[in-house]
Amino acid sequence: MTKIGIILGSTRPGRNGEAVAKWVTEIASRRTDAEFELVDLADYPLPHLDEPMSAAWGNYQNDHTKAWSAKISEFDGFVFVTPEYNHSTSGVLKNALDYLYAEWNNKAAAFVSYGGVGGARAVEHLRLIASELQLATVRAQVAISLLTEFKDFREFTPSDYLEPQVDTMLDQLVAWSKALAPLHAAPATADADEVEETVAA
Ligand SMILES: Cc1cc2nc3c(=O)[nH]c(=O)nc-3n(C[C@H](O)[C@H](O)[C@H](O)COP(=O)(O)O)c2cc1C
Repeated sequence: MTKIGIILGSTRPGRNGEAVAKWVTEIASRRTDAEFELVDLADYPLPHLDEPMSAAWGNYQNDHTKAWSAKISEFDGFVFVTPEYNHSTSGVLKNALDYLYAEWNNKAAAFVSYGGVGGARAVEHLRLIASELQLATVRAQVAISLLTEFKDFREFTPSDYLEPQVDTMLDQLVAWSKALAPLHAAPATADADEVEETVAA
């Protein structure tokens, strides 16, 4: 069965992201074409990147990296739930992405964002980062306005029109996750030529 990780990309006390990620997970769990799991970055505490070697080598020294690698390796695709911080994604999500490489490669990604303009600028940055990680990003995304979809900017009160957007996004994500499965099914190994190309790029 295709497995999709829904990554909750904010860890701030009082974060709005938790309600958004749970809402996405609830909609996704009604589907039968894939299994969905909420992955809260708060449950995978990663310090600022502290691995001596580039993730492209897959040679991890720290237990927190190995635990994160094992979790992400389980999935065929991802929904990144991201806030917009200073016109980009959160530092904690960028750090979590930087920790790994092969675990992301040849998989599909979709985005749910929230912010003053729906978090659109955060997702534009994330699409660039995803391309370097060989994550294929689907077109459909869900951009949630802090002004209209959160009471007093705090309580998530999603309008009905958003739910079909989640399903359209998941339709694209599941299709690409299945299509890419043969490419990421083989265990990731560090190929010296490929790593050198990655480091040089
Ligand atoms: C450090 C920081 C920077 C922010 N920068 C932006 C921004 O550039 N654009 C925007 O629309 N909202 C911005 N916001 C508002 C956040 O989108 C809003 O607080 C959102 O709820 C943050 O997600 P979280 O509650 O899950 O942490 C910022 C908030 C924080 C804490």
